[in-house]
Amino acid sequence: MEIQKGLEGVVVSETKISSIVENQLLFAGVNIDDLVAENAQFEEVIYLLWFLKIPTNQELKTFKKELSVQMPISDTIITCLKIQTRQNLHPMSVLRSTISLLGVFDPNAEATDEQSTYQQSLALQAKMPTIIAAYARLRKGLDPIPPKNNLSIAANFLYMLTGKEAEEVQISAMNQALVLHADHDLNASTFTARVCASTLSDAYSCITAAIGSLKGPLHGGANEKVFDMLKEIDSNNLNVEEYLNRKLDRKEKVMGFGHRVYKTEDPRKKHLKKLAKELTSITQKEQWYFLSCQVERYLKETKGLIPNVDFYSATVYHCMDIDSDLFTLIFAMSRVSGWLGHIDEQKKDDCLIRPRSHYIGPKQLEYNRINTELHPGGMEA
Ligand SMILES: CC(C)(COP(=O)(O)OP(=O)(O)OC[C@H]1O[C@@H](n2cnc3c(N)ncnc32)[C@H](O)[C@@H]1OP(=O)(O)O)[C@@H](O)C(=O)NCCC(=O)NCCS
Repeated sequence: MEIQKGLEGVVVSETKISSIVENQLLFAGVNIDDLVAENAQFEEVIYLLWFLKIPTNQELKTFKKELSVQMPISDTIITCLKIQTRQNLHPMSVLRSTISLLGVFDPNAEATDEQSTYQQSLALQAKMPTIIAAYARLRKGLDPIPPKNNLSIAANFLYMLTGKEAEEVQISAMNQALVLHADHDLNASTFTARVCASTLSDAYSCITAAIGSLKGPLHGGANEKVFDMLKEIDSNNLNVEEYLNRKLDRKEKVMGFGHRVYKTEDPRKKHLKKLAKELTSITQKEQWYFLSCQVERYLKETKGLIPNVDFYSATVYHCMDIDSDLFTLIFAMSRVSGWLGHIDEQKKDDCLIRPRSHYIGPKQLEYNRINTELHPGGMEA
């Protein structure tokens, strides 16, 4: 058996949803650079990932309406969120459990016909920003704010966080961040979603599994850790080079750097770096941009390490006054669009994902029953 650790370089499925071609990221054949240049709406990108075509005006209008109908969350879900604010939980764990609960409260959660599957996708996509914003307020002792049906996902999310409609520049930045994170070939969480879908499990289970995977700091959880690092350097007035050298000497990973696929440039970084520059300037938080550039320069020069999507997105979200432990949840509310497209594609492919592992433990050990008296039920006497 030849082992490909971490499945590096292994191709396990075909897809029409997204591709990485010579350091360019394409969504259903459309380059993300063009989507950004043309200010594509996140809703258009969701449509593109689900239907593999750019919607017409009428199709987009109908699609947005279908999403907005699904955006509100029930009082039961709000009560469940309230309970979870009492514990010392990471918000990604709250999101994971609440998405799972959405499935519990959806009477149609187990239906597999096309119309029901579509409704489940709309619900998962549309309710996620509402859940995140409600939780962000509840944990501060504030009441959740219901979504407005005339706002986009980006605008609605910022509105539901604060109760005020955000400035155009912030809405546009949030929209762009959502577009850039929407899908990315067979990344770890998308693969998790596809593995779950390959068993023909339901959409709520697949998305719950994917959120668990995204949470880890080697994947989506990196953006939160990036800001922890920047704060640590800034608040202790540390020398950047010494700080990074110490980290590297201890063989610690610097969060927001490195990538399994990209070795020279992550095509999403330049857009997020530009946004970080603009937003830090508007909000007079330039120190984060300059510090980030310093970290980028030093790691590139000394180790050839490149920033990934998580590095500058941390500063972008910070400029919107979003708490750093919510950064990965914003990643999730974008990536759920890709996950849902992949779940559908995987189910249509109808092939169980079930690789093998190479066993390296002891073999043929003798089994000797432990010498204890057992009750018939199995408990010790
Ligand atoms: C993303 C990541 C898991 C990719 O891992 P990978 O494909 O297994 O990378 P590699 O193991 O091929 O890395 C090659 C070398 O660069 C080093 N390296 C990679 N990313 C690094 C980082 N962020 N900080 C320090 N060193 C890093 C590795 O330690 C390895 O060094 P070695 O050859 O001396 O052992 C890894 O870069 C990482 O952990 N990054 C930090 C977390 C992060 O930002 N995740 C978000 C990804 S979008």
